[in-house]
Amino acid sequence: MTEKLPLYIGGRFVEGSDASLQDVVNPATGALLARAARATAAETGAAVAAARAAFEGEWSATTAQQRGQVLFEIARQLRERAADLARLETENVGKPLAESEFDVADAASCFEYYGGLATKITGEVNPVPDDALSLTLKEPVGVCGQIIPWNYPLLMAAWKIAPALCAGCTVVLKPAEATPATAMELAKLLDGMAGLPKGVVNIVTGDGPVVGAALATSPDVDKVAFTGSTKIGRTILRAAADTNMKRVTLELGGKSPNIFFADANWEAAVEGAVFGVFVNQGEVCSAGSRILVERSIHKRFVEAVVEKAKAIRLGDPFDRATKMGPLVTAAHRERVMGYVAQGQREGAKLVLGGKKPGGSLASGAFLEPTIFDEVAPDMVIAQEEIFGPVVSVIPFDDETHAVTIANGTPYGLAGAVWTRDIYRAFRVVKKLRAGIVWVNHMQPTYVEAPWGGMKMSGVGRELGRYGVEGYLEVKQVHVNLTDKPMGWY
Ligand code: NAI
Ligand code: MG
Repeated sequence: MTEKLPLYIGGRFVEGSDASLQDVVNPATGALLARAARATAAETGAAVAAARAAFEGEWSATTAQQRGQVLFEIARQLRERAADLARLETENVGKPLAESEFDVADAASCFEYYGGLATKITGEVNPVPDDALSLTLKEPVGVCGQIIPWNYPLLMAAWKIAPALCAGCTVVLKPAEATPATAMELAKLLDGMAGLPKGVVNIVTGDGPVVGAALATSPDVDKVAFTGSTKIGRTILRAAADTNMKRVTLELGGKSPNIFFADANWEAAVEGAVFGVFVNQGEVCSAGSRILVERSIHKRFVEAVVEKAKAIRLGDPFDRATKMGPLVTAAHRERVMGYVAQGQREGAKLVLGGKKPGGSLASGAFLEPTIFDEVAPDMVIAQEEIFGPVVSVIPFDDETHAVTIANGTPYGLAGAVWTRDIYRAFRVVKKLRAGIVWVNHMQPTYVEAPWGGMKMSGVGRELGRYGVEGYLEVKQVHVNLTDKPMGWY
């Protein structure tokens, strides 16, 4: 029997009605993995009410130490169940098992980081004149709606829940439609945990336009944290403006440049170009989906990148030799294939891939690693986020030209520069309009360091100390140190 995934509201598991269940499919095989409840707006409202009650009740009485201990306990249990969770994540989303294992470990690290930070959130004393004491207090924002995507289902849940609990907030988390399985395992893990009152974490699966929209428009939600498309990011901001001016943080798309100068370490650069865009099937917000390469090495570099990408083993994500699994759904693969067709129409040169593999992979949502060469910076495939294993190679003449192309999209999430010239490296770092810049690397992400974008890639930052600030309000307190009347009148 296929497992039914319930909703988790107010510390209770609530079954969805059979008629409305959503199929959760293993994208590597097309097999049915589970059937998930699809919450209504009313059920979402019940989760918000449970989060409100917990916020105003027991959770507000916990100390920072107690919240820290809860976060450590979540991390401990994630590590204890890592092998099972990783397997489930691979079935849930299709990524190679080693990547799922990495994600689970990373999720645990995230809870540990914010467990430690819970006791280090401090206010300030402001340097006002001597007759007063001016304080800055940090207080939890309140009830948080958290809407996450499908590319790192468990890890994105951790990035959202950990800093919120660290700050003393309560949450209603909405997983993506396609990938609710690991989030619901997380619900089981949290359920009944000592020190975590009912209703502090609610996990509600369902449709974006229903559950997500109910969170975004709720007058009783104090903040929405969203990761996903720029298009939906806009609707979240608009909903906040139209309701209660709730706080909004957004981690949106990207079209990140991976910039290669002729003097870069050759082997590292070639591997960085391939890893930068094909890791996690290219379903990465910070994917290095534009390879900008100095003209003098352009031809040779593309040849080397194509050779390396050809060797990527596409296949069963449970096979340890596999480096690339299927895309998240067949529908998403069609969307990505649409961009492959678009690139060909626009006159870019397809030098690798672009096809669905057949044979034993025909029943999964696989797509070959795909490389377009001689892409013009204004082509659609060089401007829009594709979110799959498709990269555009754009040659440049010099440093100024590279920076102009790099900054020439509406996005500003990430970027990388490869060179052995430290002066040039830092000049380019300073000129890139991006929230994350790597030098001689692409993609490493640390829970200790801030993550987020400039321009249309988002609002606010996650991870590190910045990540918790988005869950805190600032209260200025002025204490009069004299009891004399002002004498103004
Ligand atoms: P999406 O932005 O529609 O979905 C992300 C989350 O938002 C999901 O949980 C979804 O249910 C929810 N959502 C959808 N409509 C909503 C609404 N009206 N109100 C509130 N929440 C809503 O992204 P989708 O459709 O999964 O992918 C489309 C494209 O978005 C991708 O091809 C990719 O370009 C981009 N994307 C970017 C991500 C990132 O990490 N920056 C992650 C996922 C998608
Ligand atoms: Mg959508």
